[in-house]
Amino acid sequence: MMARPALPKYTVPSLTVEDGAKVAAILQERLNALNDLQLTLKHIHWNVTGPHFIAVHEMIDPQVDQVREMVDAIAERIATLGVAPVGTPGALVKARSWDDYAIGRAGAIEHLGALNEVYVGVISDHRKAAEETEELDTVTNDLLVGHLHELELFHWFVRAHLESAGGALSTAGADGEKKAAKAAKAGAHG
Ligand SMILES: [Fe+2]
Repeated sequence: MMARPALPKYTVPSLTVEDGAKVAAILQERLNALNDLQLTLKHIHWNVTGPHFIAVHEMIDPQVDQVREMVDAIAERIATLGVAPVGTPGALVKARSWDDYAIGRAGAIEHLGALNEVYVGVISDHRKAAEETEELDTVTNDLLVGHLHELELFHWFVRAHLESAGGALSTAGADGEKKAAKAAKAGAHG
C-alpha cells in the first residue's frame, strides 16, 4: 500500500477532500503507467527491424501522440482535484510495480508480441482504476473510460498483426514480453 498522501486544501465541488485525495492517488498510478507507455512506444518505434519496419514504425507514432494527450489530461485532472501531479522520471521508476520493457533492437513482429503484453497490463489496470472511480467520481471515471476506447483500439491494431485467419493469437499462452516476442516470431514464420 502507498503511504497516505496529505489531504488537499480543496477539491472539486461535491467531493470530500478525502475522496479527492483517493481519486488523485488512483490517477497518479495511471499517470505513471501511461508516461511509461508513451516512452516504451517510442523505444519500439526506434528499434523495430525487418520487412514490417515501415508499417510498424509509422503505426506507433499516432499512438504516442494519443497517449501523451491522455497523460496531460490525467495530470491536469489530478491538479483540478487539488493535488500536485508528479511527473518526474525518478519518481515514476520508484513508484512503478512493473519492469522496464525487455526488448531492444528486434523484428517488428517480435516487438508487437511484446507490446501485446504491455497493453494487456496497462488496459487491465486502467479498467480497474475506472471501476474504482465509478462511485467516487463520475468525471474521472468518464476520463478513464474515454482512454480505454483508444487504448483497446490500439491493442487491436497490435493484435491484428499476431492473429491468424482463424482468429487465434500467435502469442496465446506465452508469459512475459520475451516469451511473447519469441512466440510472435515463430508464428510469423511457421
Ligand atoms: Fe520518429
